[in-house]
Amino acid sequence: MSWRDTMCGVLRAGDAGRRVTLAGWVDARRDHGGLVFIDLRDHTGLVQLVVRPENDPLAHDVRNEFVLQAEGEVVARAPDAVNPNIPTGEVEIQVDTLRIVSTSEPLPFQIGDESVDEVLRLRYRYLDMRGDRMQRNLRLNHVIINAIRRTMDDLAFVDVWTPSMTKGTPEGARDFLVPVRLQPGKFYALAQSPQLFKQLCMVGGLDRYYQIATCWRDEDLRADRQFEFRQLDLEMSFVEREDVLDVLERCVVASFEAVGREAPQRPFPRMGYAEAIARYGTDKPDLRFGLAIEDATEVTRGSQFDVFANAPCVRYIVVPRTFSRSEHARLEEIAKEWGAKGLAQLGQISKFLSEAELAAFGVQEGSTALFVADEEPIVARVLGGMRTHLGRELELAETGEEVFHWVVDFPMFERDEDTGQWTFLHHPFTAPMPGAEAFEGDPGSALSQHYDLIWNGWELGSGSIRIHDAAMQQAVFRVMGIGEEEQQAKFGFLLEALKLGAPPHGGFAMGIDRFVARMAGEPDLRQVIAFPKVASGADPLTGGPTPMPDSVLRELGIKSTVETAEN
Ligand code: AMO
Ligand code: AMP
Repeated sequence: MSWRDTMCGVLRAGDAGRRVTLAGWVDARRDHGGLVFIDLRDHTGLVQLVVRPENDPLAHDVRNEFVLQAEGEVVARAPDAVNPNIPTGEVEIQVDTLRIVSTSEPLPFQIGDESVDEVLRLRYRYLDMRGDRMQRNLRLNHVIINAIRRTMDDLAFVDVWTPSMTKGTPEGARDFLVPVRLQPGKFYALAQSPQLFKQLCMVGGLDRYYQIATCWRDEDLRADRQFEFRQLDLEMSFVEREDVLDVLERCVVASFEAVGREAPQRPFPRMGYAEAIARYGTDKPDLRFGLAIEDATEVTRGSQFDVFANAPCVRYIVVPRTFSRSEHARLEEIAKEWGAKGLAQLGQISKFLSEAELAAFGVQEGSTALFVADEEPIVARVLGGMRTHLGRELELAETGEEVFHWVVDFPMFERDEDTGQWTFLHHPFTAPMPGAEAFEGDPGSALSQHYDLIWNGWELGSGSIRIHDAAMQQAVFRVMGIGEEEQQAKFGFLLEALKLGAPPHGGFAMGIDRFVARMAGEPDLRQVIAFPKVASGADPLTGGPTPMPDSVLRELGIKSTVETAEN
């Protein structure tokens, strides 16, 4: 016996007269006594079964979400019974044999009910998955991964599996640790990325590596962050930046084509990091709308408004609307939360400015210029935040456009805010720009060959041309205050490899979950991941994480300092 020979959602008027065997879930049922109508559902859609209880007494017992098998004939519905709302609405199945394959207790929520609390959805994710949203998103994910794999294969990339249990890769997050029973007191870290292994693959002559790699990072969970996530991770030998960007653009375009959407134009625009910060106050600007930050430092230097005249930096954005007094007060409050001393409108300072100075701002009737005066980083951060906030609030970004762009020419180092120590912006394996090789003399002004891919203001991925010279790699470690001994202890294997014939190489990692979430139009990654964690770090479905009995911990050489019921 075969369970089914046809899927529910595919039947059309032309199938009338066919005998079919269907299997699926009861989406709804209407019991009219002499006739029972059942909407049978599988992932392709619904079809109406018509059952005569005189033939099939079981029909009265059927309840929602029972699993049924039905055999019968496809018949055209009478014209007044056609349901134009479903693709199978012109036919129904006159069932002659009905089998209840599996029963179901009443569900905790209705399949497809969008108002269900998310934790409840995740507690019963397998029920949630029966609905359209998760079916669509998980299948979209599959289509995109296939498109990416095809592209990578066409471009001669080799899929290589790298270990999850590693010595630890510095990607700027905390590690998840794995105690090793055979080596008491020692731990592996779950890979934050395959970064060093993929570089070693280049030293190994693989030429072009890729992987849909699972990565683990112990971070605070947000809409765009999970503990575990997937990267399209790739690395290439004998390449320049443009070669790497080209590969990523091809993957993006192929993905759009695979899901039947108009692909963004290639090449994607490039924007320098300095310009991104100056004009948008962020290294991942949403370029679907303008509201660029303008500089007024020179204009206001001579003004009589002391705050502005004496500020090291005065900048503004022009917003295409006016704000009431209370609306402005609310914006100013937000600006202050972000560290500004105030948020001025042109009107408030106009009495201190000359006609010519005022005209320079070019503010039209019905628009508002919002000013912040302070140290440059604060001005950039606050106005950048204000721009993003207003872009969302005023729905300026809702243009229907998909804007991809690259941010390039990042600084090589930045100061750690807490320690004052130079630290890497991306990771310490990023090569300096040609000409900036002597970065040790002036780390703050050296640019690197790092690049980011941005989609509508979301950071999709990062990459760089790498250092392939041990001496230069050691210079980077020195700038970061990592002494010779620590270098050897942490990265000795890499330094050694770089001395044994390392080709020039570079690569990239794109967050697949982020990419799919954007493509699906979903606000967060949980909607495109089959079994995600919630913000607390818990898994509502299995109830993880759980404490471990002392006996288990002892075997691993671990003693918990947390008092729990179990230990
Ligand atoms: P990076 O750390 O920038 O680079 O990560 C690359 C991309 O991975 C995604 N991502 C995440 N997605 C979901 N949840 C998270 N917690 C999370 N963290 C990162 C983002 C991000 O842009 N080894 C380098 C790449 C390289 O240089 O080749 C790396 O991992 O989309
Ligand atoms: P004050 O003269 O301090 O009352 O400020 C006049 C206006 O300028 C108020 O709206 C303040 O919010 C604004 N303001 C004060 N300091 C700054 C600043 N550093 N940047 C932008 N606006 C400011």
